[in-house]
Amino acid sequence: MIISAASDYRAAARRRLPRFLFDYIDGGAGAEETLRANCADLTAIRLRQRVLRGAADVDLSTQWFGRSSTLPLLLGPVGLTGMFARRGEAQMARAAARVGVPSVLSTVSVCSLEEVAGQSAEPIWFQLYVLKDRAFMREVLERARAVGVSTLVFTVDLPTPGPRYRDAHSGLSGPNATMRRLLQAMTRPRWAWDVGLMGRPHDLGNISRYLGRRVGLEDYIGWLMANMDPSIGWADIEWIRAFWKGPMIIKGVLDAEDARDAVRFGADGLVVSNHGGRQLDGALSTARALPRIAEAVRDDLVVFADSGVRSGLDALRMLALGAKGVLLGRAAVYALAADGQAGVENVLRIFANEMRVCMTLTGAASVADVNSNILEVS
Ligand code: GLV
Repeated sequence: MIISAASDYRAAARRRLPRFLFDYIDGGAGAEETLRANCADLTAIRLRQRVLRGAADVDLSTQWFGRSSTLPLLLGPVGLTGMFARRGEAQMARAAARVGVPSVLSTVSVCSLEEVAGQSAEPIWFQLYVLKDRAFMREVLERARAVGVSTLVFTVDLPTPGPRYRDAHSGLSGPNATMRRLLQAMTRPRWAWDVGLMGRPHDLGNISRYLGRRVGLEDYIGWLMANMDPSIGWADIEWIRAFWKGPMIIKGVLDAEDARDAVRFGADGLVVSNHGGRQLDGALSTARALPRIAEAVRDDLVVFADSGVRSGLDALRMLALGAKGVLLGRAAVYALAADGQAGVENVLRIFANEMRVCMTLTGAASVADVNSNILEVS
């Protein structure tokens, strides 16, 4: 058993959420090999303990695109976050602003861009999928600009959804899904009252206006699936680049050649990610993909990473492998499901403390000192 804040909150989230929601966030694609490898490959990395290096203050702050962050962490985009806690995306953004890190709102959020930006004391980041409906993309980008989104995160590893078998078993999809979800909600009265009832509406806030009278979870998922575009190519990135003048990050890169293309096509950053093991089962873990990508692009753009990060130590391992910032997905959502905004703030504080201790014991005084020198070479 792994002891961590994330595993404690995961257990609490499992008790609190109806099964279809817990399995949606907890699960991955196929046999979940990549999901497991993400965690296993990270935790297998040994840290190099150093002594008597005399660093009294450890500085965890960093900067991306001219803005500072108190920690080298971000709250990553997670679909349907507003189903895990009442108006969940707004709670996430408030937690992030309170701690002083960015939060990235998903396209497929329950709360709209306007609702979340209106409740965040800091500019939010926004994640967009490449969708067939370019008019929608243009409009949603205009909405993002209007509410002061600072940075666009463009997810490119979902041209088609990975097979998530847990969803069919849990009732998120599959036969009698609505009835099964209802029955599961009845076994979770706290969630049913707090989120199921008081957290309405459960639209996908960014796309509901384009869906007309279709309002069920299946309608939203159906719209999204029908709108995923397997034909996307770098030309689409050029299209976005021409449209979005602020920082633009490509999320979902696992290969060094793709990373070099991201530089060529004008990205300001990329996220080394396999979508938390939710897309290509059998793909490389991010811990293994990251070093060669960081090496390939060096300082040509800002390299972020996610997938498999369940502790502050894991986050530092990612930094040591070449990332400049680390996105949290499940670790933050488990905490949100268990204890709302306070849970997310707490998990960020626990990660910060773990990072501080680790930096002290590896002799790194600042985030800039966290590099392969803090790792054992095996
Ligand atoms: C959406 O991005 C998902 O992974 O479910």
